[in-house]
Amino acid sequence: MNKRGRKTDQFGVDLRTKLGPLELDNPVMTAAGTSGHGAELAAFFDLSELGAVVVKSVSAFPWPGNPGPRLTPIPGGMLNSVGLAGPGMEGWLKEYLPGLRRRRIKTIVSIWGRTVEEYARASELLATELDGIVALEVNVSCPNLKAKSEIFSHSVEATRAVIEAVQPVGIPIFAKLSPNTHLVAEVAEAALDAGASGVTLINTVLGMSIDPLTAELELGGGGGGLSGRAIRPIALRAVYELKKRIPEIVIIGVGGISTGRDALAMILAGASAIQVGTATFSDPKAPMRILGELSELCERLGIARLSDVVGYAPKGMKITPAVETLSDMKAED
Ligand code: DHB
Repeated sequence: MNKRGRKTDQFGVDLRTKLGPLELDNPVMTAAGTSGHGAELAAFFDLSELGAVVVKSVSAFPWPGNPGPRLTPIPGGMLNSVGLAGPGMEGWLKEYLPGLRRRRIKTIVSIWGRTVEEYARASELLATELDGIVALEVNVSCPNLKAKSEIFSHSVEATRAVIEAVQPVGIPIFAKLSPNTHLVAEVAEAALDAGASGVTLINTVLGMSIDPLTAELELGGGGGGLSGRAIRPIALRAVYELKKRIPEIVIIGVGGISTGRDALAMILAGASAIQVGTATFSDPKAPMRILGELSELCERLGIARLSDVVGYAPKGMKITPAVETLSDMKAED
């Protein structure tokens, strides 16, 4: 605590963030699907020190996912088509939730479904075991489902219906949206209208890889979702434009963040919290490292309370660090 009784980190920066009704000690989370079903990353650092951990999307039923290969590296990132493999909500509650609870990890559960009813069922099953779970993230944007459904968040009405259907869960809800549509703002509005506390932006970008020597698709599922540094400008722009259009919206920014500077840029674009995903594959400690880098960066830039600078860029506001600080930091680039 500092003199004013605020919770601060080692650099004396107040990193707390408010996501509608959800208050977190700091804005750094893991991204769904990139840190396992439960506390798998606990071998690398204390997961309870993150703002929250978002677990891999769970459905109401066990699901085998797509055939391999499921991942392929791409310059600046990777393509994946895991196909939402998972143990199903009942299995997940038994197998993974106890480890998260034991470690006092603030857990956000991501859910998916092929129909509105399947989303409702997943949230109903979760609602029986809410201890330790701070929010629900609704993955309405998986690119790898070959079902009757299109990507839900490409449709205003489908998104509204899913968010309405999971409302009874009674914890804050965040809709994870796709960047692969021109309707991001309309879909976000529908999600808020239907009772979401905010949106997570962006999910992976639709992509594909083809072996030029054989014409074979390089992922077993056909197409895939592109993630990693390559998509950072796409994510940044999506967040900036949404925050500019709806200044009061709560956004969790995600896409290609691998340093504290990336995280701060996303916060300045309009994100009240950020998620770290693909960076974790090459550096399992990345979320914790980024949290440290972010707070050190704030300290050097004279940002005493991080929440003050959320959305500075779309508001046209500037940070004004000391001239020497700025030139030192530029030299470090
Ligand atoms: C999967 C789900 C996603 O939401 C995503 O962006 C990429 C992959 C999957 O499990 O296939």
